[in-house]
Amino acid sequence: MIQRIIDEAKKARELSYSPYSNFKVGAAILMKDGKYIHGANIENVSYGLTNCAERNAMFRMILEGYKKEDAVAICVIGQTKQPISPCGACRQVMAELLPRDVKIILANMDDLYKETTLDELIPYLFEEIE
Ligand code: THU
Repeated sequence: MIQRIIDEAKKARELSYSPYSNFKVGAAILMKDGKYIHGANIENVSYGLTNCAERNAMFRMILEGYKKEDAVAICVIGQTKQPISPCGACRQVMAELLPRDVKIILANMDDLYKETTLDELIPYLFEEIE
């Protein structure tokens, strides 16, 4: 399962639009029905408008009609020395759109990977407004 989701994230990474950083990132979400949802980072000349790979994959998952409970695992991959680490904004979106027990696999292009959890990535989560 791990090698397959890493391969799917690598495939997604090829779709990256990153002419400013030249740093391609891919993401894949495995759904309970066996489908993989792909995402890649999409940049903008107004740099702050860039959207990360994992956020694009999660938004796509919602727009394809899935609920957070349908997700089993997410993998993010980039060419980093250590397995890539998602930004704070993506961690908050993960907390919103993925189930608490989702498997999170962070990988690099040398097939080094780390399995982690939402609780580990975003402890003391802001989640209640009442
Ligand atoms: N990026 C992602 O897509 N995901 C991450 O986890 C880290 C950063 C993107 C944003 C930008 O396009 C490029 O990587 C450099 O920061």
